[in-house]
Amino acid sequence: MSHVIVAGTQWGDEGKGKIVDWLSDRADTVVRFQGGHNAGHTLVIDGVTYALSMLPSGVVRPGKISLIGNGVVLEPWALFKEIEAVAAKGVKVSPASLKISDSAPLILPLHTALDQAREKRRGQDKIGTTGRGIGPAYEDKIARRALRTGDLKDPDLLRMRLQQLYETYSHLAQALSFDLPDFEMLFDDLCKIAKRLEPYLVPTWKVLEQAHRAGQRLLFEGAQGAMLDIDHGTYPFVTSSNTQAGNAALGSGFGAARHAHILGITKAYTTRVGSGPFPTEDQGPAGVRLAERGHEFGTVTGRPRRCGWFDAVMVRQTAQIGGFDSMALTKLDVLDGFETLKICTGYTLKGQQLDYFPANAADQDGITPLYETLPGWQETTANCQSMADLPPAAKAYIERLETLVGIPASLISTSPRREDTILCADPFALKPGAI
Ligand code: GDP
Ligand code: IMO
Ligand code: MG
Repeated sequence: MSHVIVAGTQWGDEGKGKIVDWLSDRADTVVRFQGGHNAGHTLVIDGVTYALSMLPSGVVRPGKISLIGNGVVLEPWALFKEIEAVAAKGVKVSPASLKISDSAPLILPLHTALDQAREKRRGQDKIGTTGRGIGPAYEDKIARRALRTGDLKDPDLLRMRLQQLYETYSHLAQALSFDLPDFEMLFDDLCKIAKRLEPYLVPTWKVLEQAHRAGQRLLFEGAQGAMLDIDHGTYPFVTSSNTQAGNAALGSGFGAARHAHILGITKAYTTRVGSGPFPTEDQGPAGVRLAERGHEFGTVTGRPRRCGWFDAVMVRQTAQIGGFDSMALTKLDVLDGFETLKICTGYTLKGQQLDYFPANAADQDGITPLYETLPGWQETTANCQSMADLPPAAKAYIERLETLVGIPASLISTSPRREDTILCADPFALKPGAI
């Protein structure tokens, strides 16, 4: 048995939450290792919808441990709001079931203010961030001035660190004309939230090591997607963390995560929310149909997601960079009823053929997709729970994606509901890869 790392292979919102919830039945601990409350992971269980941003998607299953690793940027007030929101739906979260790293950088209101002020300043060129302070919080981490969860235990240290942050932020606030929260008020708020957070804080790397030694199964839940990765995505239209599976080891402190089955969550078509290149975007009737059938609105910001055809060149590339061993193909049912389906199998750039997604922003804007067309199917795949129930054209579409991307589909999802999932091969039982 191996551990499993789940990561998005496109621009996020591939259905990671649903798949992690499904897999968490077979896991003991579910671990977030990067991102923050920019993530929006949706689970639908017995008719109840849960929208999770900070909490790992195993949280709704009694008896499972949820863990927030050091690689996550943590907004403590948002975390407790989310804990209260799930409590209202009957899910109890306590320090016994949720463990938070004592070395996770905090997102403070000044990060949110800076994120939003920068986006406003960029105008038409905005990145289209979620406005939640993710970028500024990671900047402070790299600049070695972040306040971390563990700092909350010591009020003197906390005051000193906050003062250092204000020195930097007072310049930024002046230059970009945004208001900084009152220092003393923020300090008091932090002291108050510290008391609530403290019982959850542990050296999470140790918890993972112990669980591993005890033979438990760990499930790592990536947020965002490979094309939003700070190094390998459509820079600068990316998020500020490494979203690829390789970060699971560093973002949790569990080195053995390097040897896990890596499951790429892959939508059967493509979506993107926010600005940036999207070669297979379809702004015509097909794109509108995908958006409507797929209910493609952002979980976090409510923004409409841009929609288009499956880009096999891009997913093959992210699968190779990320070391994906198999994929979970989601939202197959959204393709029901199309006469034909297009798959991007290459690009042209200035008259030349290209078999990969270029790194340069001008080239990314300049590429034109080359498509092959497959027959669609008129039957419904929604709620199918076995391969035998899928129409032949849907099976042929899946097989073509597997061939083009170069990895098999171990899971196929046919509706938002937990039970509408086809198991082809159990990722926990598959041979682990290495990253
Ligand atoms: P995540 O960020 O990767 O967890 O994905 P989101 O939750 O942001 O977006 C995926 C959306 O698609 C959610 O509303 C899910 O409930 C829904 N979803 C997941 N899998 C399927 C599926 O197979 N079919 C359909 N129709 N919807 C799905
Ligand atoms: P999940 O985990 C889709 C996008 C934003 C923006 C860019 C940078 O639900 O798949 P940020 O606020 O991170 O600085 O924004 O990244 N983005 C996402 N898009 N799904 C997400 O998360 C995203 N998290 C960030 O829209 O383009
Ligand atoms: Mg999402």
